[in-house]
Order: sequence, then C-alpha cells, then structure tokens
Amino acid sequence: MKERVEVMLTAEEIDKRLEELAEELYKEFGDEPVEMICTLKGAVVVTVDLAKKMKMPVSLNFMSVSSYGDGTVSSGNVNVKLDLDDDINGKNVLIVEDIIDTGRTLKKLKELLEFRNPKKLKLVTLLDKPDRRVVDIKGDYTGFTIPDAFVVGYGLDYAQKYRNLPYVGILHFDED
Ligand code: IMP
Ligand code: MG
Repeated sequence: MKERVEVMLTAEEIDKRLEELAEELYKEFGDEPVEMICTLKGAVVVTVDLAKKMKMPVSLNFMSVSSYGDGTVSSGNVNVKLDLDDDINGKNVLIVEDIIDTGRTLKKLKELLEFRNPKKLKLVTLLDKPDRRVVDIKGDYTGFTIPDAFVVGYGLDYAQKYRNLPYVGILHFDED
C-alpha cells in the first residue's frame, strides 16, 4: 500500500479563511484579552497561524486530550493527558481545534472547561466533518465543513506523519 495525499484546501485558501475567522472573533471578543487553548497536537498549526491574525491581546495555553491512536478509527475513550497551567476562571477562553469528527473529544473537553467558570467559552475549529458526529456538538466558528474523508496536513496526522504539510489533503491508500 502506498500513501498518497490529494490536496483539498490550499495554504492560500486556509490563510484567507483564518483572516475571516479572526475578524469574526474580533466581533465576538472585541479588545478584551483572550486565552487561546490549543488542543495538542493537531491544532498547533492552526493555533499559531490564527493567533498571529488576532487583534486583541492573546495568551496561549495547551491541553492534550486523547482521541485517536495511530489508526483512523476513534476509540471513544477520551482522557486528559496534559492540563492547563493556569486558572481560566473569569477569562475569555477560545478552544482551538483542528477538526471535529465524532465530537467525543471536544464534548468532554468543553464540559471540563465550562466547570472551571470562564467568563466566555467559545470553540473554533479549522475543519468540521458533520457526517461523522455521534454526540451533539458544533464549533462556534468553523473554518471549513468537509465531507467524510480522512484528511492530513496543516497539523493533522496519520500515525504522526504529515502534520507539517502547509495544506490539507485527503489521504489515499493505493495498491502498489
Ligand atoms: P473526535 O473526538 O472523533 O471528534 O476526534 C477528534 C480528533 O480526532 C481530532 O482532533 C483529530 O486529532 C482526530 N481526527 C479526526 N478526524 C481526523 C482526520 O480526518 N484526520 C486526522 N485526524 C483526525
Ligand atoms: Mg484535535
């Protein structure tokens, strides 16, 4: 089997959409400080690129919640592997996700953070695959809604590979 990546969203398309999302987020938060919570590892690239476009004061924090293993099937088991190093009580919080698939990871994460009493808790995701949803959750801000395909690049991986691609592409497995 040979892996092949078919481009779905170019670097330029993503950059343009992030510009628009930053504008929408400015309408949401204005000049108030926002803590962006990057969900490791997939959201690293979108977090950094979006953060550079945000106009209000931004702080960055990181969380790791487990979802997929090395394959392409969700385990349904979600647990916190790395927690925030600050208290979000009373803060404007923006969860940044790479993709919402089944929605299990995010639902759990949102509940956990809501419990810590942020002033506002919003969710931005680069990609949304609504066809695959098993729990009721939606991003407050979505970059692109995509069909049910396994995608890599721009932070997204397959067995830890492809995160560094500057675009998003569909991963195909071709016969040799
Ligand atoms: P969920 O809990 O099923 O929504 O899982 C979300 C997580 O699964 C994402 O944050 C990704 O890390 C991973 N994931 C879901 N779909 C894809 C995909 O198409 N490519 C790569 N990773 C994916
Ligand atoms: Mg993720």
